[in-house]
Amino acid sequence: MRTSLVYRNRRIYELLMRGLYRTHYAARFTAIDELIPDGVRVLDVCCGPATLYTRCLRDRSIDYTGLDRNAGFVADLIAAGGHGRVWDVRDETPLPAADFVVMQASLYHFLPDAAPVVDRMRAAAGTAVIVTEPIRNLATSEHRVVAALARRCTDAGDGAQAHRFTETTLDALFDRYGSRVTRRARIAGGREKLYVLTP
Ligand SMILES: C[S@@+](CC[C@H](N)C(=O)[O-])C[C@H]1O[C@@H](n2cnc3c(N)ncnc32)[C@H](O)[C@@H]1O
Repeated sequence: MRTSLVYRNRRIYELLMRGLYRTHYAARFTAIDELIPDGVRVLDVCCGPATLYTRCLRDRSIDYTGLDRNAGFVADLIAAGGHGRVWDVRDETPLPAADFVVMQASLYHFLPDAAPVVDRMRAAAGTAVIVTEPIRNLATSEHRVVAALARRCTDAGDGAQAHRFTETTLDALFDRYGSRVTRRARIAGGREKLYVLTP
């Protein structure tokens, strides 16, 4: 599997994200951290460099497990003290059970139909599923060169990602879950949208 430079190195990934989100970077994580009480199990699906863990959850009494198909990110997470497993979410194996099942900025990898992944997250969750996803991103920029570069840079190994959500398409996906969606809100300066679902 050949991933883009951004996904090969945790520091490069985080540098890019900080540049992209600027003053809203911390809010990506606090918006999720605030929803999770102490004493629970958290499964972070497509955890990447597990920044949610290292910035927020590591210092709390939370049993955290991150899944990612990038073995380098998982090795870094384990070195940082968390539980991590190399896992391809496209594989239909049921996800490990947890109280809160989280996915941050990764749902677009499963387009054009991301619903089966959300359903597998619901099946694994005892209390809630929390999804945050970009609704404004460079990959859908009207500037064709910028858009092509952004897609290449975020290739996780399955080809440049042509598909991204807009707020309308993301809302449409979660509308399918009706009253199970207990919260939806723009976060991180309006760059991402957060959804909370009961399982
Ligand atoms: C944009 S990053 C998000 C990382 C982290 N959740 C965050 O918000 O900082 C997307 C992550 O999804 C992972 N990923 C993509 N497709 C995957 C798959 N099929 N199974 C598991 N992980 C996958 C990539 O390796 C990458 O770490």
